[in-house]
Amino acid sequence: MDLGIRLLAASALAAALATATAAAGEPSPTKAKVDFARDVRPILSDACFACHGFDEKERKAGLRLDTHEGAIAKLKSGDAAVVPGNLEESGLVFRVETDDEEMLMPPKKSGKTLTPAQVDVLKRWIAEGAPWSGHWAFEPVKKAEPPKPAEAARARGPVDSFLLARGAEALADGRAGRPAPPRHA
Ligand code: HEC
Repeated sequence: MDLGIRLLAASALAAALATATAAAGEPSPTKAKVDFARDVRPILSDACFACHGFDEKERKAGLRLDTHEGAIAKLKSGDAAVVPGNLEESGLVFRVETDDEEMLMPPKKSGKTLTPAQVDVLKRWIAEGAPWSGHWAFEPVKKAEPPKPAEAARARGPVDSFLLARGAEALADGRAGRPAPPRHA
């Protein structure tokens, strides 16, 4: 076999392997946990943030859905949009499912609608405890105290402290040595 063909064969094999791995890693739609940044936030961002987002002047009902605090906050109405783990108590669930056009979110006049699949994602997310993973770009800037890892003496600055602590955590739960899974927004 000449080198060119061998290289071709090798890259075809590599491509096939990559595809197989990707397929194996693909979450099955029924079992996979909802991922906030990947699945939930884009829905809220597209259908809700115009009226329940960062812009205080546009914010309706005092509800903001772009922060965890905002999403779980008790509102003037007495409801909270999101009650983690509790679909019945979550105002959001009622609002995206109701047949009452006056109550339905997003409001019809916004020109937005949610598909049944999107409603399902929101409900599963809340049922799973509404975890909020922040892509750093979405989180308000916070000053974090550098952790004090056991190997603190090795740290030459706060960034080292974070890295050492992360490493110690990884060792503790057996993740050490494996690359962190990619996190996409
Ligand atoms: C075009 C603006 C607009 C958009 C977009 C919008 N809302 Fe609303 N929302 C409102 C207004 C106005 C109210 C207050 C009036 C009312 O209660 O219906 C409200 C109220 C709510 C409430 C009740 C808050 C309370 O007082 O208890 C929830 C929950 C809610 N929205 C969730 C959502 C969700 C989830 C989305 C996206 C899927 C969304 N909204 C999109 C305008 C909007």
